[in-house]
Amino acid sequence: MKYILIGESQIKISQIGLGTWQFGTKGWGYGSDFDRKTAIELVQKSIEFGINLIDTAEVYGRGESEKIIGEALQGMDREEFVICTKFMPLTLRPSRVVKALHNSLKRLKTDYVDIYLIHWPNPFLPLGRTLRYMEHMVEEGLVSILGVSNFSKKRFIKAQKKMKKHKLEINQLNYNMVMNSVEKTFLPYAKENGIAVMAYSPLAQGWLTGKYSENNRPKGVRRYNRLFRKKNLRRGRALLELLREIAEKYHVTMAQVALNWLIRHENVVAIPGAKNLHQLEDNAKAADFSLSSEDLERINQELEKFKPKIIF
Ligand SMILES: NC(=O)c1ccc[n+]([C@@H]2O[C@H](COP(=O)([O-])OP(=O)(O)OC[C@H]3O[C@@H](n4cnc5c(N)ncnc54)[C@H](OP(=O)(O)O)[C@@H]3O)[C@@H](O)[C@H]2O)c1
Repeated sequence: MKYILIGESQIKISQIGLGTWQFGTKGWGYGSDFDRKTAIELVQKSIEFGINLIDTAEVYGRGESEKIIGEALQGMDREEFVICTKFMPLTLRPSRVVKALHNSLKRLKTDYVDIYLIHWPNPFLPLGRTLRYMEHMVEEGLVSILGVSNFSKKRFIKAQKKMKKHKLEINQLNYNMVMNSVEKTFLPYAKENGIAVMAYSPLAQGWLTGKYSENNRPKGVRRYNRLFRKKNLRRGRALLELLREIAEKYHVTMAQVALNWLIRHENVVAIPGAKNLHQLEDNAKAADFSLSSEDLERINQELEKFKPKIIF
């Protein structure tokens, strides 16, 4: 595993984390493909594979994801884990963030979270006042690192300017090989300013693992992901073939190639979701090799050619 240090407090986080939107979410196969016992095991075993970063949110499984993590942490050394959770600004009351954090702490059965993010921007939310409450959480020792998610560079800079005592240290963004606009829109700014990018959906929700095709498309939440439309799976055939060839060359899986491609950037961490121990281990090991510059070039050239039809 590879680790990076983030924030003023220089917290050490693994470049591969564990995403837990899947926990408690039927649309991801929770309750049919995998159960609570497996979810708890995934959190507990992640440490054995070198993963210390666990990503969750108050909205995942309507709080169930945080509850599962809370249960998993019992009997474990809390300090070994870096827990990231998020607040969803659905109401316009800035003080809601305080209640949200305390509810998350209760579900997580812990007295602090390492990383606390605003899940999505809400243009009508009084941002300055919300951030003031969040800075106060740091002072109280309830949170170590503050950040945001799904913020454009412009919005991020605007928010950063409103910070009085601390910095926003993280932006969690949709970033994977095929959804890679972050490389142009945010990554250069992040590198220059010491901001970490947490790449969500790093496997493009499984699209990059090579197991899906026009005749085998995932159901549930992924029905809304346009990458899984037949024409995009068809358009992606050459890219997936190349990833398969490169994976064979390194004796790794396509998922590992996709994750390794992301964490070649020193300020990027990837938080793939996993539904079983095999996936967890596979993802953790993505940090144990390096793609050659020649192979990176071949991948990037093929990515240039892949033009999925995606209108969000
Ligand atoms: N901030 C935000 O707005 C936001 C949005 C989305 C996600 N997130 C966070 O990011 C995390 C990851 O994103 P995501 O869940 O959307 O997508 P992802 O990590 O790209 O894909 C996860 C899915 O890929 C499959 N998979 C995982 N590892 C695999 C492996 N080694 N081999 C083969 N298949 C594998 C599994 O599904 P199957 O086995 O069923 O294919 C798994 O559920 C989430 O859990 C959540 O914590 C944040």
